[in-house]
Amino acid sequence: MARPNPEATPLPLDTIMSGDCVAAMERLPENSVDLIFADPPYNLQLRGELHRPDNSMVDAVDDHWDQFESLKAYDHFTRRWMKAARRILKPDGAIWVIGSYHNIFRVGATLQDQGFWILNDVVWRKTNPMPNFRGKRLTNAHETMIWASKSEGSKYTFNYEALKALNEGTQMRSDWTFPICTGHERLKNARGEKAHPTQKPEALLHRLLVATTNPGDVVLDPFFGTGTTGAVATMLGRHFIGIEREDAYRQLAAERIAKVRTLPREALETTTSKRAEPRVPFGQLVERGMLRPGEELQSGNGRFRAKIRADGTLSGDGVKGSIHQVGAAYEGAPSCNGWTYWHFRREGKTVSIDTLRQQIRAEMTKLN
Ligand SMILES: C[S@@+](CC[C@H](N)C(=O)[O-])C[C@H]1O[C@@H](n2cnc3c(N)ncnc32)[C@H](O)[C@@H]1O
Repeated sequence: MARPNPEATPLPLDTIMSGDCVAAMERLPENSVDLIFADPPYNLQLRGELHRPDNSMVDAVDDHWDQFESLKAYDHFTRRWMKAARRILKPDGAIWVIGSYHNIFRVGATLQDQGFWILNDVVWRKTNPMPNFRGKRLTNAHETMIWASKSEGSKYTFNYEALKALNEGTQMRSDWTFPICTGHERLKNARGEKAHPTQKPEALLHRLLVATTNPGDVVLDPFFGTGTTGAVATMLGRHFIGIEREDAYRQLAAERIAKVRTLPREALETTTSKRAEPRVPFGQLVERGMLRPGEELQSGNGRFRAKIRADGTLSGDGVKGSIHQVGAAYEGAPSCNGWTYWHFRREGKTVSIDTLRQQIRAEMTKLN
């Protein structure tokens, strides 16, 4: 697990910074964080109070942190926090921004204007959205998340196989269905009311962090609120940096995160693609004496044989070359995966040479 070297990075890991997020981010070193998750003010522009049909008041987002004088002021704020976020993001880093129709289009345009490269937008479809009491227009049943890399050429993290595994073996789609945060997960104040109007569900952050970070990565959330990002990051063995300007929310978040335990290392390992696994040349099996020069290999179907040479190539019936080349020549095929094609004999059994490669890979993973 590659954990950042604390001497090389003065980042305030696993802490919640106070004050305005722009000023806080400006104090951090440039090119230093792997991922930013931003849940900025929505700028809902609510006019007056919302009431249910029984005349009770709806607990909507009407807090002062969500108020902006005008769209121009909101855009100005967006440009400022995004510029500060971009500076501290590593060149291969990425950003997620979540929002509703009130702000997400403006946020998306600013992302592009600032040089971020949009990779996907994800629709979070809410299974239990807040009803539209006025009965006008459509019930708002989703929010949009934009995922963007720092620039077009960034080698951003995407754990494709892990997400496929989360989706029972099928490629993950861009519409994610989760309930809004309710029940025991929803933090309450002393009066039993919602402690924060827009606490995000942990499930959303779980998927997003498994998808776009690795254990040990640093995730920064400039609009920390109740600290959902910090709680899930801690559970998943990622570092977090939160920024929140309201004292009460910071305290709430700190108390919440203090109760979270990081999952054991084995539980944090996720499915990787074969290509992401370390490369092992066949010759290494020979050098290490796992297979001996002169030893015979046979094809899985038992039809062909070839002998191993000291340099890790094979010599067969009128053909010489790598495990892949000799397999392909025998089969008359344009290519062949020699690792799954060739087998050796041990204690009366036929064993794929790939099992030896896996042994070496397991040793390499332990060393990292
Ligand atoms: C939409 S909420 C984030 C909720 C959070 N994702 C959660 O799950 O609890 C936005 C938060 O950003 C904070 N905030 C707004 N403007 C800020 C600023 N300029 N600097 C720091 N925090 C800010 C607000 O106090 C609020 O808690």
